[in-house]
Amino acid sequence: MDVTEVISSRHSVRQYKDIPVEEEKRGILDALAKEITEESGISARIVYDEEKAFSSAMARYGSFKGVRNYICLFGDKKSDEKIGFYGQKLVIKAQEIGLNTCWVALTFDKGFVKKNYGEGKPLRCVIALGYGETQGKERKSKTEKDVTDIKGKTPENFDVGVKAALSAPTAVNQQKFRIICKDEKVSIVKSGLGFYTDMDLGIVKYNFQTASGIKVFEE
Ligand SMILES: Cc1cc2nc3c(=O)[nH]c(=O)nc-3n(C[C@H](O)[C@H](O)[C@H](O)COP(=O)(O)O)c2cc1C
Repeated sequence: MDVTEVISSRHSVRQYKDIPVEEEKRGILDALAKEITEESGISARIVYDEEKAFSSAMARYGSFKGVRNYICLFGDKKSDEKIGFYGQKLVIKAQEIGLNTCWVALTFDKGFVKKNYGEGKPLRCVIALGYGETQGKERKSKTEKDVTDIKGKTPENFDVGVKAALSAPTAVNQQKFRIICKDEKVSIVKSGLGFYTDMDLGIVKYNFQTASGIKVFEE
Protein backbone atom coordinates (compact mmCIF):
# COMPACT_ATOMS: atom_id res chain seq x y z
CA MET A 1 0.00 0.00 0.00
CA ASP A 2 1.51 3.38 -0.91
CA VAL A 3 1.22 6.37 1.39
CA THR A 4 -1.78 7.92 -0.43
CA GLU A 5 -3.70 4.67 0.08
CA VAL A 6 -2.67 4.61 3.75
CA ILE A 7 -3.93 8.20 4.11
CA SER A 8 -7.26 7.50 2.42
CA SER A 9 -7.88 4.27 4.36
CA ARG A 10 -7.60 6.03 7.76
CA HIS A 11 -10.84 6.84 9.57
CA SER A 12 -11.43 7.70 13.22
CA VAL A 13 -11.92 4.57 15.33
CA ARG A 14 -13.37 4.89 18.84
CA GLN A 15 -13.94 1.23 19.83
CA TYR A 16 -10.98 -1.07 20.33
CA LYS A 17 -10.32 -4.80 20.74
CA ASP A 18 -8.51 -6.12 23.81
CA ILE A 19 -5.33 -6.96 21.88
CA PRO A 20 -2.02 -5.49 23.11
CA VAL A 21 0.17 -3.62 20.66
CA GLU A 22 3.18 -5.85 19.92
CA GLU A 23 6.66 -4.85 21.14
CA GLU A 24 7.91 -4.48 17.58
CA LYS A 25 5.16 -1.97 16.73
CA ARG A 26 5.73 -0.11 20.00
CA GLY A 27 9.39 0.16 19.04
CA ILE A 28 8.52 1.72 15.66
CA LEU A 29 6.10 4.27 17.13
CA ASP A 30 8.28 5.10 20.14
CA ALA A 31 11.27 5.74 17.87
CA LEU A 32 9.20 8.17 15.79
CA ALA A 33 7.84 9.90 18.93
CA LYS A 34 11.43 10.29 20.18
CA GLU A 35 12.61 11.73 16.88
CA ILE A 36 9.72 14.22 16.86
CA THR A 37 10.43 15.25 20.46
CA GLU A 38 14.11 15.79 19.74
CA GLU A 39 13.67 17.67 16.48
CA SER A 40 10.41 19.62 16.41
CA GLY A 41 10.03 21.56 19.67
CA ILE A 42 6.86 19.69 20.68
CA SER A 43 6.83 16.50 22.79
CA ALA A 44 5.19 13.21 21.90
CA ARG A 45 4.90 10.35 24.38
CA ILE A 46 2.98 7.10 23.99
CA VAL A 47 1.22 5.43 26.93
CA TYR A 48 0.42 1.70 26.54
CA ASP A 49 -1.89 -0.62 28.52
CA GLU A 50 -3.59 2.14 30.50
CA GLU A 51 -7.41 2.28 30.66
CA LYS A 52 -8.17 5.15 33.03
CA ALA A 53 -7.80 8.07 30.62
CA PHE A 54 -10.75 6.75 28.63
CA SER A 55 -12.97 5.33 31.40
CA SER A 56 -14.60 8.59 32.52
CA ALA A 57 -18.19 9.54 31.71
CA MET A 58 -16.74 12.12 29.30
CA ALA A 59 -14.99 9.41 27.25
CA ARG A 60 -18.10 7.22 27.21
CA TYR A 61 -20.08 10.27 26.10
CA GLY A 62 -17.60 10.56 23.22
CA SER A 63 -18.47 6.85 22.52
CA PHE A 64 -14.97 5.57 23.23
CA LYS A 65 -14.67 1.92 24.28
CA GLY A 66 -11.67 -0.24 25.09
CA VAL A 67 -9.02 2.47 24.61
CA ARG A 68 -5.84 1.16 26.28
CA ASN A 69 -3.15 3.08 24.45
CA TYR A 70 -2.81 6.72 23.50
CA ILE A 71 -0.28 9.20 22.15
CA CYS A 72 0.10 12.37 24.28
CA LEU A 73 1.07 15.58 22.51
CA PHE A 74 2.58 18.43 24.52
CA GLY A 75 3.38 22.00 23.51
CA ASP A 76 2.23 25.55 24.10
CA LYS A 77 -0.86 26.86 22.31
CA LYS A 78 1.30 28.59 19.72
CA SER A 79 2.60 25.18 18.66
CA ASP A 80 -0.81 23.77 17.67
CA GLU A 81 -0.03 23.67 13.95
CA LYS A 82 3.14 21.70 14.71
CA ILE A 83 1.19 19.39 17.05
CA GLY A 84 -1.19 18.70 14.17
CA PHE A 85 1.57 18.09 11.62
CA TYR A 86 3.69 15.75 13.75
CA GLY A 87 0.72 14.06 15.43
CA GLN A 88 -0.60 13.16 11.98
CA LYS A 89 2.83 11.77 11.10
CA LEU A 90 2.36 9.33 14.01
CA VAL A 91 -1.24 8.60 12.95
CA ILE A 92 -0.19 7.67 9.41
CA LYS A 93 2.70 5.53 10.70
CA ALA A 94 0.26 3.72 13.03
CA GLN A 95 -2.15 3.14 10.11
CA GLU A 96 0.71 1.85 7.96
CA ILE A 97 1.59 -0.82 10.55
CA GLY A 98 -2.03 -1.96 10.93
CA LEU A 99 -3.22 0.08 13.92
CA ASN A 100 -6.19 2.44 14.22
CA THR A 101 -6.38 5.89 15.80
CA CYS A 102 -8.61 8.80 16.76
CA TRP A 103 -7.53 12.37 17.55
CA VAL A 104 -9.06 13.46 20.88
CA ALA A 105 -8.85 16.99 22.26
CA LEU A 106 -11.85 16.95 24.61
CA THR A 107 -13.51 13.63 25.41
CA PHE A 108 -10.87 12.05 27.67
CA ASP A 109 -9.68 12.54 31.26
CA LYS A 110 -7.18 15.32 30.69
CA GLY A 111 -6.51 15.86 34.43
CA PHE A 112 -5.54 12.20 34.87
CA VAL A 113 -3.17 12.20 31.90
CA LYS A 114 -1.55 15.50 32.94
CA LYS A 115 -1.02 14.28 36.50
CA ASN A 116 0.44 10.90 35.57
CA TYR A 117 2.19 11.49 32.27
CA GLY A 118 2.66 15.28 32.13
CA GLU A 119 5.96 16.61 30.88
CA GLY A 120 6.04 20.21 32.07
CA LYS A 121 4.66 21.56 28.78
CA PRO A 122 0.87 21.92 28.34
CA LEU A 123 -0.97 18.78 27.17
CA ARG A 124 -2.78 19.86 23.98
CA CYS A 125 -4.46 16.58 23.03
CA VAL A 126 -4.13 12.81 22.78
CA ILE A 127 -4.60 10.26 19.99
CA ALA A 128 -6.29 6.95 20.87
CA LEU A 129 -4.37 3.99 19.45
CA GLY A 130 -4.87 0.25 19.05
CA TYR A 131 -6.63 -2.52 17.14
CA GLY A 132 -10.04 -1.18 16.19
CA GLU A 133 -13.23 -3.21 16.37
CA THR A 134 -13.63 -1.95 12.79
CA GLN A 135 -11.57 0.14 10.39
CA GLY A 136 -13.95 3.10 10.83
CA LYS A 137 -15.99 4.51 8.00
CA GLU A 138 -16.16 7.19 5.33
CA ARG A 139 -17.72 10.42 6.50
CA LYS A 140 -19.18 13.45 4.80
CA SER A 141 -16.62 15.69 3.19
CA LYS A 142 -16.39 19.01 1.44
CA THR A 143 -15.50 18.76 -2.26
CA GLU A 144 -12.31 19.83 -4.04
CA LYS A 145 -14.18 22.88 -5.34
CA ASP A 146 -15.23 23.87 -1.80
CA VAL A 147 -11.66 24.06 -0.51
CA THR A 148 -9.52 25.24 -3.43
CA ASP A 149 -8.78 28.63 -4.88
CA ILE A 150 -6.84 28.24 -8.12
CA LYS A 151 -5.34 30.85 -10.42
CA GLY A 152 -3.25 29.72 -13.37
CA LYS A 153 -1.57 26.33 -13.61
CA THR A 154 -1.37 23.79 -10.80
CA PRO A 155 1.82 21.81 -10.10
CA GLU A 156 2.10 18.08 -10.72
CA ASN A 157 0.37 16.00 -8.03
CA PHE A 158 -1.72 18.95 -6.82
CA ASP A 159 -4.96 16.95 -7.15
CA VAL A 160 -3.47 14.03 -5.21
CA GLY A 161 -2.60 16.48 -2.42
CA VAL A 162 -6.09 18.00 -2.36
CA LYS A 163 -7.68 14.56 -2.11
CA ALA A 164 -5.39 13.67 0.81
CA ALA A 165 -6.17 17.02 2.49
CA LEU A 166 -9.90 16.26 2.23
CA SER A 167 -9.39 12.91 3.98
CA ALA A 168 -7.53 14.57 6.89
CA PRO A 169 -9.30 14.43 10.25
CA THR A 170 -10.44 17.82 11.58
CA ALA A 171 -12.15 18.66 14.89
CA VAL A 172 -15.92 17.96 14.53
CA ASN A 173 -15.19 17.39 10.84
CA GLN A 174 -15.20 21.15 10.29
CA GLN A 175 -12.67 21.18 7.38
CA LYS A 176 -12.01 24.91 7.83
CA PHE A 177 -9.11 25.28 5.45
CA ARG A 178 -8.43 26.53 1.95
CA ILE A 179 -5.80 25.40 -0.51
CA ILE A 180 -4.57 28.31 -2.57
CA CYS A 181 -2.64 27.87 -5.79
CA LYS A 182 -1.31 30.84 -7.75
CA ASP A 183 0.81 30.05 -10.78
CA GLU A 184 1.92 26.71 -9.34
CA LYS A 185 2.74 28.11 -5.86
CA VAL A 186 0.68 26.38 -3.17
CA SER A 187 -0.24 27.49 0.34
CA ILE A 188 -2.85 26.21 2.80
CA VAL A 189 -4.60 28.58 5.21
CA LYS A 190 -7.36 28.48 7.85
CA SER A 191 -10.78 29.68 6.78
CA GLY A 192 -13.25 30.92 9.35
CA LEU A 193 -13.38 30.51 13.09
CA GLY A 194 -13.65 27.23 14.96
CA PHE A 195 -12.12 25.05 17.65
CA TYR A 196 -8.63 23.66 17.11
CA THR A 197 -8.33 25.13 13.62
CA ASP A 198 -4.54 25.55 13.96
CA MET A 199 -4.17 21.88 14.90
CA ASP A 200 -6.43 20.95 11.98
CA LEU A 201 -4.27 23.06 9.65
CA GLY A 202 -1.13 21.14 10.64
CA ILE A 203 -2.93 17.82 10.06
CA VAL A 204 -4.20 18.93 6.64
CA LYS A 205 -0.73 20.17 5.65
CA TYR A 206 0.82 16.83 6.63
CA ASN A 207 -1.62 14.89 4.46
CA PHE A 208 -1.27 17.28 1.49
CA GLN A 209 2.54 17.44 1.61
CA THR A 210 3.06 13.71 2.19
CA ALA A 211 0.75 12.63 -0.63
CA SER A 212 1.81 15.22 -3.21
CA GLY A 213 5.46 15.93 -2.40
CA ILE A 214 4.64 19.67 -2.59
CA LYS A 215 6.04 21.56 0.41
CA VAL A 216 3.43 23.56 2.34
CA PHE A 217 4.59 23.21 5.96
CA GLU A 218 7.20 25.64 7.32
CA GLU A 219 9.13 24.36 10.37
C1 LIG B 1 -7.93 18.35 16.65
C2 LIG B 1 -8.99 17.28 16.74
C3 LIG B 1 -9.69 17.09 17.93
C4 LIG B 1 -10.66 16.06 18.03
N1 LIG B 1 -11.29 15.86 19.24
C5 LIG B 1 -12.20 14.85 19.36
C6 LIG B 1 -12.83 14.59 20.62
O1 LIG B 1 -12.57 15.25 21.64
N2 LIG B 1 -13.72 13.56 20.69
C7 LIG B 1 -14.03 12.77 19.60
O2 LIG B 1 -14.83 11.84 19.74
N3 LIG B 1 -13.45 13.01 18.38
C8 LIG B 1 -12.53 14.02 18.25
N4 LIG B 1 -11.92 14.24 17.03
C9 LIG B 1 -12.21 13.36 15.87
C10 LIG B 1 -13.07 14.04 14.79
O3 LIG B 1 -14.41 14.11 15.22
C11 LIG B 1 -12.93 13.28 13.45
O4 LIG B 1 -11.59 13.30 13.06
C12 LIG B 1 -13.77 13.92 12.35
O5 LIG B 1 -15.14 13.76 12.61
C13 LIG B 1 -13.46 13.38 10.96
O6 LIG B 1 -13.65 11.99 10.87
P1 LIG B 1 -12.46 11.02 10.40
O7 LIG B 1 -11.34 11.17 11.40
O8 LIG B 1 -13.04 9.65 10.38
O9 LIG B 1 -11.97 11.48 9.05
C14 LIG B 1 -10.96 15.25 16.90
C15 LIG B 1 -10.26 15.47 15.70
C16 LIG B 1 -9.29 16.46 15.62
C17 LIG B 1 -8.53 16.63 14.35
